Amino acid sequence: MAPKQYGVNELREMFLKFFETKGHLRLPSFSLIPQNDASLLLINSGMAPMKPWFTGEQEPPRHRVCTCQKCIRTGDIENIGHTARHGTYFEMLGNFSFGDYFKRDAIHWAWEFLTSPEWVGLDPDRLYPSVFAGNETTPADDEAFEIWNKEIGIPAERIFKFGKEDNFWEHGSGPCGPCSEIYYDRGEKYGCGQPGCTVGCECDRYMEVWNVVFSQFNNDGEGHYEELKQKNIDTGMGLERLAVVCQDVDSLFDVDTVMNITKKVTDITGASYGQSRERDVSLRVITDHIRSATFMICDGVLPSNEGRGYVLRRLLRRAARHGKLLGVNEPFLFEVCATVIGENEGHYPELRERQDYITKVIRVEEENFARTIDGGLRIFNDMLEEHKAKGEKTFSGTDAFKLYDTYGFPIDLTTEMVAEQGMAVDEAAFRQLMQEQKERARRAREALGDLGWAGIEFGKDMPETKFVGYDAANLENCPGKILAIVAEEELRDGVLEGADAILVLDQTPFYAEMGGQVADQGVITCGDARFQVTDVQKNKGGKYMHYGKVLSGALKVGDAVSSTVDGKRRKAIQRAHSATHLLDKVLRTVLGAHVQQAGSLVEPDRLRFDFTHFSALTPEELSEVSRQVNEAILEGYEVHTDVLPIEEAKQRGAIALFGEKYGDTVRVVDMGHGYSVEFCGGTHLDNTAKVGVFHIDSEFSVASGVRRIEATTGLLTLETLNRNQDMIFEAAAVLKAKPFEIRERAQQTMEEVKTLRHTVEAFQAKEAVNEAGHFLMGAKDVGELKVLTGTLPDADADRLRKMGDFLRDKAPNVVAVLSAVNGGKITFLAVCGKDAITKGIKAGDIIKSVTAICGGKGGGKPDSAMGGGTDVLKLDDALATVDDFVAGKLGL
Ligand code: ALA
Repeated sequence: MAPKQYGVNELREMFLKFFETKGHLRLPSFSLIPQNDASLLLINSGMAPMKPWFTGEQEPPRHRVCTCQKCIRTGDIENIGHTARHGTYFEMLGNFSFGDYFKRDAIHWAWEFLTSPEWVGLDPDRLYPSVFAGNETTPADDEAFEIWNKEIGIPAERIFKFGKEDNFWEHGSGPCGPCSEIYYDRGEKYGCGQPGCTVGCECDRYMEVWNVVFSQFNNDGEGHYEELKQKNIDTGMGLERLAVVCQDVDSLFDVDTVMNITKKVTDITGASYGQSRERDVSLRVITDHIRSATFMICDGVLPSNEGRGYVLRRLLRRAARHGKLLGVNEPFLFEVCATVIGENEGHYPELRERQDYITKVIRVEEENFARTIDGGLRIFNDMLEEHKAKGEKTFSGTDAFKLYDTYGFPIDLTTEMVAEQGMAVDEAAFRQLMQEQKERARRAREALGDLGWAGIEFGKDMPETKFVGYDAANLENCPGKILAIVAEEELRDGVLEGADAILVLDQTPFYAEMGGQVADQGVITCGDARFQVTDVQKNKGGKYMHYGKVLSGALKVGDAVSSTVDGKRRKAIQRAHSATHLLDKVLRTVLGAHVQQAGSLVEPDRLRFDFTHFSALTPEELSEVSRQVNEAILEGYEVHTDVLPIEEAKQRGAIALFGEKYGDTVRVVDMGHGYSVEFCGGTHLDNTAKVGVFHIDSEFSVASGVRRIEATTGLLTLETLNRNQDMIFEAAAVLKAKPFEIRERAQQTMEEVKTLRHTVEAFQAKEAVNEAGHFLMGAKDVGELKVLTGTLPDADADRLRKMGDFLRDKAPNVVAVLSAVNGGKITFLAVCGKDAITKGIKAGDIIKSVTAICGGKGGGKPDSAMGGGTDVLKLDDALATVDDFVAGKLGL
């Protein structure tokens, strides 16, 4: 029996509906960027974003959930295009139970969905389950075996038992457990034909479609398994694989929605699909990678040389190179992404919203790569020829490094191109060169850094400064000792009143500028001597450099001193810093999980926060952000800081800055017991309520895909509010209204002004016409024409034009030149009635003539022309020439 030919989009919907009928809550796909989970670069399965619900750390929205999750797995990137079932991008259908139903329901439902004619309706005789065979630590899964055998009725010989490799699911640390997989026999035509080819064979005949995981352990990341408090179900079915089975097609690339993308690629490249193996591989690579890239960018990843950004760059560059293999030398991937969006927008509406942005990111990356790849490919081919000529099988690390360093070829691109030629790169030599380059860069940075400290290198023998300023008790009169002073050379041993200097102390309560938070200010004293601290920087050796001035007395190395931080200022900085964490949290809630911090500045009661997002925030989004931050403030969340081993911090879900290097232990700032948890070395309030009032000043774009919010806290917000209040009172006084009436009153006033303006304009127009009538009466007869000239001292061009139009339309035989003088400049207007034009008089010619006399110029059409001049003294003379000009033209 052939299965029904369901499309990818239909299957997705069918799955989610089926589990809704079983009491599951349907959730949208989570972002591809893991949140609070530094163990993963990209989401690779349906369960990955739900780990805290599996472990019981967090309460799920319902104990039964189903999703279709976008996933990326790049581990098998070399296989893409070569096999039927590998793709970097795929969608995973999953039903999940968090301490709710367990094995029995999970197995029964999987079977019902796959075989019931109401649902997918696959032939039960083609389906084969497998169960965990057990090992030294975990027993065989007899329970699952019994359910398949006794309850579903599958004969024992058709139930396969496999080991940990196949039937125990885990990915890094976190929830895991034995699983039961369901295979579909696609028939002999897809088989390898080898004796013993059966379920589990590497060939494409028996395709694994569904993995039902009985998630009952937690792996601590070091191989220790602990029973979870609750028994869970985690299932994963590859949507595209299910479609392969239903549509009975060769591979993932042949299912409907994916094939439409390949078709687009063939349209652009002109390469047809199914003609040659090499071309098909390229077409599949492009199709797969553009799918990944489109979804990654949509979720906020940007191409870069680090982390996720590198994965994206690698995929785009690999796809671009395969485009080249197909003979496309222009950027083209950015066009293909439109098809990816079109095929998927039904379930992922955010794709359409961000289409312009996604297209732009891809295009820019393609263009950048195109600039380097052409030169690079030529050099690569030369290098290759040289190696071949010498009969070498190894491509040298030096050459690979040159391609990387000069032409931006990622090493794995070179490796891949070299492998295509049956050779291998000397990767060890390449890594050595990379290391040397890093060392050189580090030494260069150090050398520069030393110069930065007034040319003086602080002795390596000197201990690091101990920072004791997290503790409020140390902010006043904190003891310390001067270890070194940088100042004018001759004063080094005793710096006197008035001198600028840098002091290095053995311990300090002054926070040095770091992580976006500005430095503390305050005073350092020793007896009568007072040193004003204006800035603090921490140098590479961990010494705190206190910049400032000696206000009185003298200071020298070895002095016992007392440090006092400007407490008010410090509190204001803490308000801004704690508010920044709340803002970060709220932005993710309101805008989505793609929001990543891209930079921040924390000053006294003022903050600047940069984050990745695609478009300007709407007024509604801004007010929602502001409302939620203020709510979190009003909750009065307690703020706790802990110094933890990095693994433990990650487990607590702390948000790290991506790409940031952290030491073995990190400081974690927690607000409201998990409401906001971030890695942070800054100083904070002990309770969010102390932020006072949070107020957003502005929101704007700072770079493509990066937005900035500027906001204030505490006293500064109060100042703003008070200032606004004053303005309202002042405006009310001016409008003679009560403060609450000003809007209405201002609107009324504006309406009145508008009406009055119209009245005045109508009046002016009428007056112009009257004036023109008078002019007309004073016109001179020249032949059959009436010539008139006149000056309206301060009329503007508009009024002149209105008068001119009136004269021209009223008297067909008129030739008029009007002028006005404003601010030392003359404006001329000439008009000719119909009859005058017939007689060969053109306003444009007249204007040229009169403006020339007044040192200006002008022009226009026969019936109307304008011009200007500066020589006001010649104005009358110029106007006086008009009669003669007309007479001359008429031949009088
Ligand atoms: N988490 C399981 C998988 O990805 C279902 O296969």
